[in-house]
Amino acid sequence: MPESVALATIEASRKSLGNPSSMHWAGREARRLLDDARDCLADFLGVEPGSIVFTSGGSESNNLAIAGHLLRVAKNAQKQKVITTAIEHPSVLKTLEFWCDQLDFDLLTISPRENGVVDASDIIRKLDDATAMVCMMWANNETGIIQPAAEIVSACRTRNIPVLIDAVQVLGKAPMDLAKLDADFVSLSAHKIGGPKGVGCLVVRRGSTLLPWLLGGGQERGRRSGTENVAGAVGFAHALGCKDFSQCVSVRDYFESELLKYMPDVTVYGQAVQRVGNTSMFAVPGMDGETLLMQLDLAGFAVASGSACSSGKREPSHVLQAMGVDVRLARSSLRVSFGPEHQNVDADALVRELLRIRMLLRKMAGL
Ligand SMILES: Cc1ncc(COP(=O)(O)O)c(C=O)c1O
Repeated sequence: MPESVALATIEASRKSLGNPSSMHWAGREARRLLDDARDCLADFLGVEPGSIVFTSGGSESNNLAIAGHLLRVAKNAQKQKVITTAIEHPSVLKTLEFWCDQLDFDLLTISPRENGVVDASDIIRKLDDATAMVCMMWANNETGIIQPAAEIVSACRTRNIPVLIDAVQVLGKAPMDLAKLDADFVSLSAHKIGGPKGVGCLVVRRGSTLLPWLLGGGQERGRRSGTENVAGAVGFAHALGCKDFSQCVSVRDYFESELLKYMPDVTVYGQAVQRVGNTSMFAVPGMDGETLLMQLDLAGFAVASGSACSSGKREPSHVLQAMGVDVRLARSSLRVSFGPEHQNVDADALVRELLRIRMLLRKMAGL
């Protein structure tokens, strides 16, 4: 989090003594801070302030759009199916599985092609009068691969099918014009751009409706009850445009070229297609991703593996599996995210450390 964002968040905590719903001076001051943050976000995204629903982050935004829409259309017997992709974030996949099961919708999950991109025509072909909703991401959180969000929104709009775009990984990383995109629902999260954790928003297009899912005081125009996180919203607004992620791409590309130079057996995912510039996902054959992660952690590197914990068992990345990557190779994968603060020397240090760890692990295995 940039210092200026941290300071703005703390300052807003101090200043927003009142509850933004209260009528007294302290409440009005908190309301003003919240309204200013909403205006700033709306201006940045090219949408109306009234379309922004502040939430606790990307997960809640996805939950709100999915539950809020499906609960609303559940009584319409004609709407029977929901379409998504196999590479969505769990906050979309698990939420859809839950609500489709509860409300009796058929869930159609489209796989990406081998290159990690979901072919728009694979979704468009399935759109029909029975489609209640389409939910898809704009950029994948594991591989960084950009998905054809605009094409899907445009196809859905002509057929009057509501669409949720999970844009959490695109904000700040690639150009984003939400007015042009014109999706019914767009999910965003502050911490992906150096804002505070636990705050985000759902952008709801004018004319698109949801049933509220979090009930109570009717905040956020009745769409999300609960006293608003004023300091979080202010921090989110301050973080917009604060970090210049455009510099990451050269360090990321340098890292991948050095990695392949010293470890030519490594597979880097998504190099041939469009990706956001800060993400690199690769597999080191013969190595376990979790073990690499722990060894790198000991050396001070914070990286991720694509695996997820399911029923106490480590499952390899569902994204790589959906791309048809062999399970053993998927288990050898790591995901590295670069920030504007990183330079080529950091990439060099990471490659050196990976080489050292691989040598060490091979030695320990008697290879
Ligand atoms: C694509 C995507 N969607 C949703 C989320 C969830 O966002 P949050 O952490 O704000 O709940 C993430 C978080 O990593 C993400 O990458």
